[in-house]
Amino acid sequence: MTATGMTRPDATRPMDGDGAGVSLDRSVTGGPASVWEGETIRLRPVVADDWPAFAAWDQEDETSRASYQIDFPRSAEATRTWVEEAATREYRGDRFRWVIARHDGTAAGTINTHTCDARNGTFSFGLAIGQDHRGHGYASQAIRLVLRFYFEELRYQKVTVHVYGWNTASQRLHERLGFQVEGRLRRMTFSHGDHHDTLVYGLTAEEFAAGA
Ligand SMILES: CC(C)(COP(=O)(O)OP(=O)(O)OC[C@H]1O[C@@H](n2cnc3c(N)ncnc32)[C@H](O)[C@@H]1OP(=O)(O)O)[C@@H](O)C(=O)NCCC(=O)NCCS
Repeated sequence: MTATGMTRPDATRPMDGDGAGVSLDRSVTGGPASVWEGETIRLRPVVADDWPAFAAWDQEDETSRASYQIDFPRSAEATRTWVEEAATREYRGDRFRWVIARHDGTAAGTINTHTCDARNGTFSFGLAIGQDHRGHGYASQAIRLVLRFYFEELRYQKVTVHVYGWNTASQRLHERLGFQVEGRLRRMTFSHGDHHDTLVYGLTAEEFAAGA
């Protein structure tokens, strides 16, 4: 079982060394009690009661557009079913979806990992913060927590993110976290009546450890 209570039956990474003599108790090292604890947010699994928050984010067209695309409207029932499915899903491999929750319990956004390749140690993620909760450092904290877990606990070594060419907020967010532009994929998406390039951002485990 992982810290989130999910089993990972298909985890493929071999164990190396016996870890002898290494203290993993963060209360001893002075760090936070949980790896999911940030300064002002906590990452937690999706629960069925989160559906109104997801339904509210669905109403924010620009959040949808920047995260992926604007879709047909989704009914409350469909949202509830999707959230219930996310809450009870038996995750395979290392993909996961968290709710980014403020310390008062309010759901501020969501972050999810995908394209997890344990053999090569590469993964990707997407995230969105609700419009009312932006500008408080929640995205930065959530990304750092996820990267630390994948690099320091799951032994991944490289993360890449695709950011739409017009999404300057996300570009600055990733640049401030030390991500580098590794490429520009031309005319990869159609939105708001036009084709747009996609920027590929990347960060290695070493760059993250060095506080890139
Ligand atoms: C991009 C997004 C995730 C940022 O979330 P956030 O919690 O507001 O981000 P943070 O508060 O951690 O901001 C960190 C840095 O990002 C940059 N940034 C964030 N929002 C910005 C904006 N609107 N314009 C310019 N830069 C911005 C800033 O450099 C900021 O640091 P600073 O405030 O010290 O200058 C949020 O705007 C969002 O959810 N957008 C819609 C969905 C989306 O774009 N997802 C990412 C897809 S790749």
